[in-house]
Amino acid sequence: MPTYSSKLTTIERHILAEQEQHPSASGDLTNLLYDIALAAKIISREVNRAGLADILGVAGNTNTSGDEVKRLDEYADKAIFRVMDHTGRLCAMASEEQEDLISIPERFATGKYVFLYDPLDGSSNIDANVSIGTIFSIHRKITYGARGTLEDALQPGHRQVAAGYVLYGPSTVMVYTTGHGVHGFTLDPTIGEFLLSHPNMKAPKQGAIYSTNEQGYWSWDPKVRAYVDWIKKDDKATRRPRSSRYIGSLVSDFHRNLLYGGIFFYPATAKNPDGKLRLLYELAPLAMIAEQAGGRAVDGRGNRILDLHPTGLHQRAPVFLGSEDDVREAEVFLRGEHPAQKT
Ligand code: AHG
Ligand code: MN
Ligand code: MN
Repeated sequence: MPTYSSKLTTIERHILAEQEQHPSASGDLTNLLYDIALAAKIISREVNRAGLADILGVAGNTNTSGDEVKRLDEYADKAIFRVMDHTGRLCAMASEEQEDLISIPERFATGKYVFLYDPLDGSSNIDANVSIGTIFSIHRKITYGARGTLEDALQPGHRQVAAGYVLYGPSTVMVYTTGHGVHGFTLDPTIGEFLLSHPNMKAPKQGAIYSTNEQGYWSWDPKVRAYVDWIKKDDKATRRPRSSRYIGSLVSDFHRNLLYGGIFFYPATAKNPDGKLRLLYELAPLAMIAEQAGGRAVDGRGNRILDLHPTGLHQRAPVFLGSEDDVREAEVFLRGEHPAQKT
């Protein structure tokens, strides 16, 4: 007879068990996480049959960050909205694909949470059948009145009550945290359930991978260039040279580095003086996951990502994100304090 080494746990059961540790919880956050799992299944189904369903291609407009919007982005954006708008758990939403705060329709009740999301991350990869993702961030409402306002959405990342992502890869994986560790679930499409596959994820303290778009090299700050030059040089004692791995799909690059160890960075460039990635939809949620897994996330200007105070929904920030030691090593270069810079 085969022996089974671990218990079979669905995401629902896992979330409920977490809630039971907080007897005062109303269950709203629990249900909100279920809602996300449902949206993830719907998007996953569509991503998997994208080529077949002939929904690939450009939709003909641009989003507020100026990117081309693909039809699957629109699909994911609407799917999430339709799962979330009528639950009575949210006071407002904000999406990378929409310029303004998304109100809950008047006919529906509102609740105490704000939901921010990047419906489809890495969408330039869709046509090539490369892994893409969804990122989400949840804040508690801080203003009075039933409807949420911009102020509720523009909170620093350290106030997030939950954050996570879904990766649509060879299998679909959902990773989330409510501030009590990071847990990963893999979708079994035959039963339509996310099953616990990565309990209590911990990022290796140090890795051997760096992920960045080196197109920006000559417009990076010389300190960033010095760091990259250094990590490419040979030195066994400091695990160099590091391997370059860049998918161009943040969720995929982040997930791989979380499992294997490494650093992802998107510094300021001539084209993007604040980097490219969005604080509310991409950086704050991944920074919370990284820190909860023992990693680190900074903007390279002396700030922790989770301490940045957003002033606009689509604000960008430079980022250095991943294994703790790797990020700290980069920070030494960014401060100009590394011995290799003094020669
Ligand atoms: P999105 O598809 O949501 O617009 O995000 C794209 C992001 C991110 O996934 C990735 O890390 C980055 O853009 C890649 O940018 P470059 O093409 O400049 O490397
Ligand atoms: Mn994105
Ligand atoms: Mn996107």
